[in-house]
Amino acid sequence: MFCSEGATVIVTDLLDEEGKELSKELGNPSEYFHLDVKSEEEWVEVTHKILEKYGQLNVLINNAGITGFLETNGPFDAENVDLNSWNEVHQVNSNGVMLGCKYAIKLMKEKGGAIVNISSRSGIVGIPTAVAYASSKASSRNHTKSVALYCAEKGYHIRCNSIHPAAIMTPMWDMMLGTGEERKKMIKSIENGIPLGHFGEPIDVAYGALFLSTNESKYITGTELNIDGGILAGSEATPE
Ligand SMILES: NC(=O)c1ccc[n+]([C@@H]2O[C@H](COP(=O)([O-])OP(=O)(O)OC[C@H]3O[C@@H](n4cnc5c(N)ncnc54)[C@H](O)[C@@H]3O)[C@@H](O)[C@H]2O)c1
Repeated sequence: MFCSEGATVIVTDLLDEEGKELSKELGNPSEYFHLDVKSEEEWVEVTHKILEKYGQLNVLINNAGITGFLETNGPFDAENVDLNSWNEVHQVNSNGVMLGCKYAIKLMKEKGGAIVNISSRSGIVGIPTAVAYASSKASSRNHTKSVALYCAEKGYHIRCNSIHPAAIMTPMWDMMLGTGEERKKMIKSIENGIPLGHFGEPIDVAYGALFLSTNESKYITGTELNIDGGILAGSEATPE
């Protein structure tokens, strides 16, 4: 989406082979840098590379995120949550966003820019069996507002907003959905709880990110955009 709008896109991830492949697919101008978002050292390195090669950064999408289900041992229910697993999820989803904002501000403060933090609907409502994910996403939602206010107070012309996706069909769902018939049943049961009746696609989030990154949203900062098929619009506990 950003490439097609003429942006030079720097892709970062832990998955170097996939990242390089993606930046090739996107074509020029696009580039891949390794970045573990929880490492301040690596943010510093990437910041230097961007400054050296491009001299500025206009947009940061803080998109890296984990549920912890694959990456840690868990469990993640409120009564039994494992502290190391909780910490790991927060390091990526919460510390990663904080570090991204910190270094983006340094790169953007002369010329202005936009930061978009990909939080989640779980940053707005609780998830009883994914407490670390929900808490870490609430952290990135709130940090967005602090960053927005800080940049406005300083007169930096940097806007910062959060996006709250839900039920977007990406590899993040693979482990939760299972395979074969079980997957089909799970998808159907989840879709029954989505007002629009189906999963969203990555492009649905990309349109939101593009809007919040460009001049069309020049008067919008510190706000949150739900991209969730209507899930957050209501509650299952409908009054009779
Ligand atoms: N898919 C959904 O339904 C959904 C819903 C709400 C929020 N989100 C959020 O959207 C964002 C994108 O998720 P997705 O659905 O595309 O999931 P995904 O698992 O497909 O992508 C997440 C990416 O983050 C990378 N990553 C993980 N840890 C990292 C680290 N320490 N440093 C750098 N990169 C790291 C992974 O390698 C992967 O490429 C996440 O923040 C996720 O929490 C997704």
